Amino acid sequence: MSEPSAVQTPQAFPPRIFSGIQPSGGLTLGNYLGALKRFAQKQDEGIETIYCLVDMHAITVWQDPAKLRQQTREGAAAFIASGVDPARSVLFNQSQVSAHAELAWIFNCVARLGWMNRMTQFKDKAGKNAEAASLGLYAYPALMAADIMAYHATHVPVGEDQKQHLELTRDIAAKFNHDYGVEFFPIVEPLIEGAATRVMSLRDGTRKMSKSDPSDQSRINLTDDADAIAAKIRKAKTDAEPLPETLDGLKDRAEARNLVNIYAALAGMTAAEVVAENAGALFGTFKPKLADLAVSVMAPITTQMNRLMQDPAEIDRILGAGADRAEAIARPILDRVYDITGMIRSRR
Ligand code: AMP
Ligand code: TRP
Repeated sequence: MSEPSAVQTPQAFPPRIFSGIQPSGGLTLGNYLGALKRFAQKQDEGIETIYCLVDMHAITVWQDPAKLRQQTREGAAAFIASGVDPARSVLFNQSQVSAHAELAWIFNCVARLGWMNRMTQFKDKAGKNAEAASLGLYAYPALMAADIMAYHATHVPVGEDQKQHLELTRDIAAKFNHDYGVEFFPIVEPLIEGAATRVMSLRDGTRKMSKSDPSDQSRINLTDDADAIAAKIRKAKTDAEPLPETLDGLKDRAEARNLVNIYAALAGMTAAEVVAENAGALFGTFKPKLADLAVSVMAPITTQMNRLMQDPAEIDRILGAGADRAEAIARPILDRVYDITGMIRSRR
């Protein structure tokens, strides 16, 4: 056993991307545009990419075990169908790599109650009855910080709703480094980019499109067929005004703005370009155009997901192989964390 020479660490960290999605329900167009699509782009840019189905985050609220397994496989199929290649990215489920839970405990002892009390997602999810929420739901952001830091990841692509959690990750990393007098953890950069960092509900332009919304009409699921997608877009809440000449004209029109953003993200355009191209169009014209575009982008993904789901054993094999690769990166980092914090490691 060597003494903690581990404390000497490099000052600069090579770029490495980590992100995660909860397998807590069917995935939505929001997950695709805000996360999955961008995960594949980062991989294609040649950066090292590690992607995780965070099943341990999912159980912070009740999950039926059989459904959780199914949703984890479906999530893996969604990653692959969206262009994440398990040969080029590390793709696995969180619970298969114990480093996440181990580092989360250390971070529970670094994070302060005052910091956790400011987390708006906890307040939203716990609702009025916070007394009945699980301790895990409260500690959730420390586990998320551990997910990222167990790999010394430097960049995290996410949707807008995760910004506060990434700020907390930075605070935890900085406090650990400061308390132990090391430069061990990188200070992570959130990557919140593109036209669809916050896709809103199709029924209410002030609420996020979410897999947990009770109304199925509020979202497009990655498992919806072409007819369902078209019907949901046709029925999406809008106003009676035509599309304006410039983006400024959408300022107080949340629902209209949302459909424009979705169009832009699906087409790979900016929202300003979409408005310029469709100025004066009524929703009777714009919605069918959007529906056609959505179907043309989503249908091949849904088809591939369905095909992959025919062979759950193959998905499990991919997740297992990904977990082996993830473990190989995280274990040496955890060993050094134990050395830095004064934990004896004397097993052979
Ligand atoms: P979750 O489904 O909460 O695990 O979120 C997984 C990823 O999808 C995170 O990066 C979220 O920020 C992103 N995401 C979820 N819902 C939306 C949405 N409505 N718009 C944009 N990104 C989203
Ligand atoms: N909290 C994220 C969400 O709900 C999921 C998540 C867990 C995550 N661990 C992560 C995202 C690490 C990015 C990095 O969307």
